[in-house]
Amino acid sequence: MCAELALPLPQPWDEAAAGWNEHTAVIREWLRDVTDAMISAANIEPGSQVLDIAAGAGDETLDIAQRIGSNGYVLATDLSPRILALAHDNLRAAGFSNFDTLVADAQALNLGGKKFDAVVSRLGLMFCTEPHLALQQAHLALRPKGRFSAVVFSHPDANPCLGIALRTALKHANAGQSATCAAPPNPYAPGTLMSLGKPGLMTSLLANAGFTDVEVRPVSAPFCWPSSRHYVEFVRAAGSPLRAILSPLSLEAQAEAWNDMAQQLDQFGTPEGWVGPNELLLVSATASNRLNGA
Ligand SMILES: C[S@@+](CC[C@H](N)C(=O)[O-])C[C@H]1O[C@@H](n2cnc3c(N)ncnc32)[C@H](O)[C@@H]1O
Repeated sequence: MCAELALPLPQPWDEAAAGWNEHTAVIREWLRDVTDAMISAANIEPGSQVLDIAAGAGDETLDIAQRIGSNGYVLATDLSPRILALAHDNLRAAGFSNFDTLVADAQALNLGGKKFDAVVSRLGLMFCTEPHLALQQAHLALRPKGRFSAVVFSHPDANPCLGIALRTALKHANAGQSATCAAPPNPYAPGTLMSLGKPGLMTSLLANAGFTDVEVRPVSAPFCWPSSRHYVEFVRAAGSPLRAILSPLSLEAQAEAWNDMAQQLDQFGTPEGWVGPNELLLVSATASNRLNGA
């Protein structure tokens, strides 16, 4: 076999891995309450066996490892080998040994029949182009009556900063192209930031995947930064989807796009600093009573 064919494909989040990891402190602060709520909704307790899907650099995995203690176990999975290597290092550096990491697509986990008490996913499922497959995989990984909980971005009206950032990136990326190319993007296009925020979508996807007790709760989680420029610097370093849209442009054209974004986002400045509205959905559900896929 040709050696090149055996190499893993580069993943979009490989490029943003270091940037996401370097912003762990602000991400942790931003998502603290909803992360606690997600862990509680999944009934994670000392001794639990937990699967963390799209774990990134492992920020929520650290909280899970702490909650389950030395008798528990957490498997952190992610599509990007580079960001998952950071999760491994972060967990080890924090002194945990009750975990493993596995590079895996959420839509095809391949866990060999292993069953977990709880499956969670924080800000990852919306990047799946076939989220119904990811939820089927989550259900398959749960023991009967196991708990699922996840956090995704809500709909565009509640997330104006994401909307402005996306529209501005696309406007700059499509500059000079035909009107068809520059048509407004579908905010719910599969695999994009707010794709799972469509009202009613998570409820029906979870029910179709075999879950019961489905709950979907909007949670306000504003982005707080000293200024819009700080927020844009975060997105520039850690926002894989926006980086990907702008990557074909020259560095100069990219800088113009980031600058344009910051100017438009200035509207969320307050005397106390910049506060960008942001809404998440906290979803939770119970796996069916039967052992599935056994
Ligand atoms: C915004 S980061 C969230 C990381 C982490 N859960 C957190 O909240 O800090 C999104 C993560 O989803 C991962 N991801 C995207 N598509 C995926 C897929 N199809 N399967 C597994 N992981 C995926 C990316 O590699 C990235 O690490």
